[in-house]
This record gives sequence, structure tokens and C-alpha cells, in this order.
Amino acid sequence: MPSAQQKLSWVIVGQGAIGLLAACRLQQAAYPVALWLRQPNALTVTLETATTKTTCQFAPAQKPLRQLFIAVKAYAVAECLTQLSTELSPDAQLVISHNGMPDLAYLQSVAASAQGIWFLSTSHAALRTADSVLHTGQGQSILSPLNNAARQAESAIVAAMTEALGPVQLTADIRPALWRKLAVNAVINPLTALHNCRNGELVSAAFTAQIARLIAEVCQLAALEHIELELQQTKAHVYQVMQATAQNYSSMQQDRYYQRPLEIDAITGFIIRTASKHQLAVPENQALWEALQQVTSPQSPQP
Ligand SMILES: NC(=O)c1ccc[n+]([C@@H]2O[C@H](COP(=O)([O-])OP(=O)(O)OC[C@H]3O[C@@H](n4cnc5c(N)ncnc54)[C@H](OP(=O)(O)O)[C@@H]3O)[C@@H](O)[C@H]2O)c1
Repeated sequence: MPSAQQKLSWVIVGQGAIGLLAACRLQQAAYPVALWLRQPNALTVTLETATTKTTCQFAPAQKPLRQLFIAVKAYAVAECLTQLSTELSPDAQLVISHNGMPDLAYLQSVAASAQGIWFLSTSHAALRTADSVLHTGQGQSILSPLNNAARQAESAIVAAMTEALGPVQLTADIRPALWRKLAVNAVINPLTALHNCRNGELVSAAFTAQIARLIAEVCQLAALEHIELELQQTKAHVYQVMQATAQNYSSMQQDRYYQRPLEIDAITGFIIRTASKHQLAVPENQALWEALQQVTSPQSPQP
């Protein structure tokens, strides 16, 4: 573990739930942390856990940007990386994190040869309120270097991400983990958004056949992508997550409820596009996509 003097300084992009959770935890671990916001500004925020409340203060980031943690919604990544591209140091390290399937080839393509690029997938849960960030669920993260410049900086980045969103599992190939998460997200997110319900309500027999077909399509598609996703294990995993998070509302349910854009394109949209590439029919995912597109009216009060 590096000493305080050796700790890299970090720039957190945005002021969202996961970004601020990481920012506060890095600062608590004595990393220098600044924020890159749409409008440069200092920010004071309280990190609330089940047992603690800590006030964190952040200054605006100074250019050029070196170590960046970028946790924006999947649909905001490309625009964000374009905006950042002229602000980065030639040896910057970028850790990108979002739900849904990232376009890894695209992410690799945005980094110059000396710039490291990483993807991090996390199961921590956080909620942003007006002046706080609530750490609502302890989780863990999977982290993968996507190019050589990232691999060369491995120990320092892993140490920082362990403080931010650890425990961290480092992997050379993040795709199998992303497909396992995709299977869960492809069921829970669109169904809870469509039916405006908590995750646990999907365990009901009314959804059993539809969920079985959704999972079968994802497993079949994974095989065509040379990813092993065994059907029964995947089904068991999806139900385990539904039960473990039974009282929670999914992020997509919340996004629909508050009439924000959905991250559907990086989940069900990815499945449909990839299936089309293989000329595989995925009618259940297609129908779910279409049903969600049609739902544009405001929701009834949250149950
Ligand atoms: N929250 C969770 O518990 C959780 C758990 C696991 C995974 N995730 C995933 O992690 C990702 C981030 O989630 P989140 O809940 O933290 O989202 P969020 O609260 O919406 O935060 C995203 C932040 O990024 C900012 N942003 C977007 N583009 C930007 C740009 N170009 N420049 C500066 N700031 C920019 C947004 O600002 P504006 O609001 O101004 O656009 C917003 O403050 C999502 O993919 C989510 O599904 C979330």
C-alpha cells in the first residue's frame, strides 16, 4: 500500500451516486480527490453509511487530468469521453464504470498509447440526495485493465479502486463477469421498470415463463459470443439476486419513475444488436424493449 505522499491524486467525473461514493471513500483513505463537473465548482457532501456520517469537501479539478474515475450512465459515456479528450495528460489513467455492456473496443480506441483505460463493474449501491450520498448497499467490484498502459500502472490503480469500491477482483478478461451481470440486468431492470415494482415481486409465478425465456435467450447469445453462461446456473443466480434485493427498486425502475432516460440501450439494446449480428432471434428481449419504448406516460405513485 503506498504511503500518503505516494498516493495518486484522483479526479472524479460528475457528482452522481457512485462517483461521489468513490470520491468520499478515496478521500477518507487520504487520496487527494477533486471533481470534474459540467460547471467547475467546489462541492461539500456528507457520506452516510449505516453507522457513520462524514463530511467530504472537494475542489474543482485542475488540468491536465491524470487519474480519472468516470461513473456516468452508459448513454453518457461517449459524450463525456469526447469532452474529456482534450483535458487529459498524455499518461492519464481512466477508470470507466457503468451498468450494461460496455463497448470495450470503443473504450480501447479512445485512449492514446500511453493512456491507460480500465473498466470497473460494481455491486456497491449508492443514492444521491440533495447534500448527501448514501451508501445503501455494501458490494464489491471487478476491475480490468483494457490496454498495456493500464497494465503498467496496475498496482497503483488497484490500490486506489480497492479503497474506492473494494474489495476488488482484478481480471484480465472482464467479459464473462459482464455477461453474468447482463443476464441479471436484462431480467430485473426492464421488468421492474415496466411493471413499476420492487425486485422481489419478480419471483411471482406470473413472471416465471417470461423470465425463463429471457434468460435462455441471453445464454444462447453468450454461447455465440464464446462466453460460457450455463442456463440453470444463470437462472439460479438471477433468482438469488432478486431474492437478496427483494425490497429494492432497480435503477431502471427508479429512472422510469422519475422520468429520466433509461440505460436500456446498454442492456436489452445490446442483446438485440448482438443477436442480430448472429442472426439469432431474441423475441422475448425484443418484446420487452418494445414494451418499454411504448411506456412514456408518467407513473402512478410508487407502491
Ligand atoms: N447508484 C448505484 O447504486 C449504482 C450501482 C451500481 C452501478 N451503477 C451504475 O453506475 C453508473 C453511474 O450511476 P449513478 O447512480 O452514479 O448515476 P448518476 O447519479 O446519474 O450520476 C452520473 C453523474 O455523471 C454526471 N455526468 C454525466 N455526463 C457528464 C459529463 N459529460 N461531464 C460531467 N458530468 C457528467 C451526471 O451529471 P448530470 O446529472 O448533470 O447529467 C451525474 O451527476 C450507471 O451506469 C449506473 O447504472 C449505479
